[in-house]
Amino acid sequence: MQGLKRLEYRGYDSAGVALAAPGMDKIAWRKKAGRLNKLVEDLEKKPMPDATVAIGHTRWATNGVPSDVNAHPHMSQDGKIAVIHNGIIENASELKFNLEAEGYTFASSTDTEVAAKLLGKIANEIVEKQGAPDLFEAMRRVARMLTGAFTLLAVDSRQPDIVVGARHDSPLVVGLGEGENYLGSDVAAFVAYTKHAMELGQDQAVCISADKVIVTDFEGNVVSNPKRFTVDWDASAAEKGGWDSYMDKEIHEDPAAVSETLLGRFDAKGTLNLDEVHIDEDVFRQVDKIIVVACGTASYAGLVAKYAIEHWVRIPVEVELAHEFRYRDPILTPRTLVVAISQSGETMDTLMALRHAREQGSRVLAICNTQGSTIPRESDAVLYTHAGPEIAVASTKAFVAQIVAAYLLGLYLAQVKGTMFRDEIRHIVTDLKAMPEKIQWVLDTQADTIAKTAKQMLNAHSFIFLGRHVGYPVALEGALKLKEIAYTFSEGFAAGELKHGPIALVDAGEPVVCIIPSPRGRAVLHSKMLSSIEEVKARGAFTIAVAEEGDESVANYADVTFWRPQCPTLLSPLVDVVPLQLFAMDMSVLKKNDVDKPRNLAKSVTVE
Ligand code: AGP
Repeated sequence: MQGLKRLEYRGYDSAGVALAAPGMDKIAWRKKAGRLNKLVEDLEKKPMPDATVAIGHTRWATNGVPSDVNAHPHMSQDGKIAVIHNGIIENASELKFNLEAEGYTFASSTDTEVAAKLLGKIANEIVEKQGAPDLFEAMRRVARMLTGAFTLLAVDSRQPDIVVGARHDSPLVVGLGEGENYLGSDVAAFVAYTKHAMELGQDQAVCISADKVIVTDFEGNVVSNPKRFTVDWDASAAEKGGWDSYMDKEIHEDPAAVSETLLGRFDAKGTLNLDEVHIDEDVFRQVDKIIVVACGTASYAGLVAKYAIEHWVRIPVEVELAHEFRYRDPILTPRTLVVAISQSGETMDTLMALRHAREQGSRVLAICNTQGSTIPRESDAVLYTHAGPEIAVASTKAFVAQIVAAYLLGLYLAQVKGTMFRDEIRHIVTDLKAMPEKIQWVLDTQADTIAKTAKQMLNAHSFIFLGRHVGYPVALEGALKLKEIAYTFSEGFAAGELKHGPIALVDAGEPVVCIIPSPRGRAVLHSKMLSSIEEVKARGAFTIAVAEEGDESVANYADVTFWRPQCPTLLSPLVDVVPLQLFAMDMSVLKKNDVDKPRNLAKSVTVE
């Protein structure tokens, strides 16, 4: 239950468990629609028997509505095998048709039940032929028959000492304990019990018992040296602590996410050292174009990177939504560096985009927050963000950490390509190191104004967010946060677009959030943004500004201002986004929404 609780952020519309122990004829199982609590209450009322092996699942419905019957586990026809599954099995209808023709019956409308019935059938065929069960072999045979994306785990009452699994395009990691072993979608499932973990590669199957782990490919060839790693955070990092929500906690970890991501990446002279990415300096020197592939918040971090890297390195940076990139014919050369940004490291769209890029000969560097996940494993190199586990579905601290990692990449490229003087780089690094304190200032001084404004805006039907230059991705991110957790229609626009259409939306009282650049930066950016806020104000908008402390000019146009301390324009997204994160959270709390688990959303989108 503890393991499931830690994974609940990945899916939370139903939950279930299946157990096996010596002497059990059939699998013992229980499942319930709704949050994990429902299952826990049910188990407290009616405990399940002791067991030697167990599998559990929290679901995010893709195939079949959230209900008791569609919840996992799903059982084989004879009840001897239970299966849980992540992903989507694309040939499920065809397989089901054949199984039905053989007399198999189905209770749910899930693809998982098809896998369970199929596994049961094949396991029984093996028993008949060999006179003994071999769930591991049965699992491999099933894996070879499936198309789509899947991680499958299974237990069999005839082999109550093993759990078997197989993965194709969906995540699975092994936890190596003492006298017990674990499987999980990510390390959060078992980090309270062991920090030692093992990666599983694409199209690999695994069999764990209390003291043994065997990994093979789907043909049965043993994989001799699966990669091991040690989890670099404690179980307590994934606890809510005294905070009202994970999101609240994680926003307050923004400063630490920035400083931790900067840590250890410079030598005593301030020279950037990215040896850890294991790409030769010469290769970086040759890079003549960057394409960032990512989704959602991660793509907005990429957009911030575009402004910084193009300015520092003077090479073009394109930012592509991974799902669009994948089906285009992008122009890639061996000198193109594709940067895949992903907090979870498991976003299927981003994974597919990186494969698309690698197939065409480009190098892929991942910016990722999750060790042992698929995207870094399949990339040529990885630059880890050190934000710690992010549990709330709405990404906050990972966003600022992704921006920092992208800055590091940009500065490193500038260093190896010589597009900036060492002193200039050192200067920016000093500014970067000061950012955690500035974020902390926003958290400490602006929370009350933000909370008051959220109360005032509670009944607003929609929000417009406007930004220019690096304020534009911040506007997009502010709007995304509000839709995700406050369920309020909100849209971010580049401020220059206003008069090309969006201004028609501005009516009396319409809340418009404007990200105002520093008046000490490029004067034109500041004055253009002031014109935008003036324009909407003139049409009766309720204007909320995010502006630099001491910027008197804003007072003429803003009904409310969320202040940020002075900082260089290119680094300002790191602070500008913070009040917008708090604002979305406050709105969500006031609306009595579940801040951490917004409706219809899962933390890792592991299906396309
Ligand atoms: C952020 O608040 C969202 N939940 C979502 O847009 C997310 O950033 C996106 O799905 C990408 O996730 P990833 O970083 O794990 O790849």
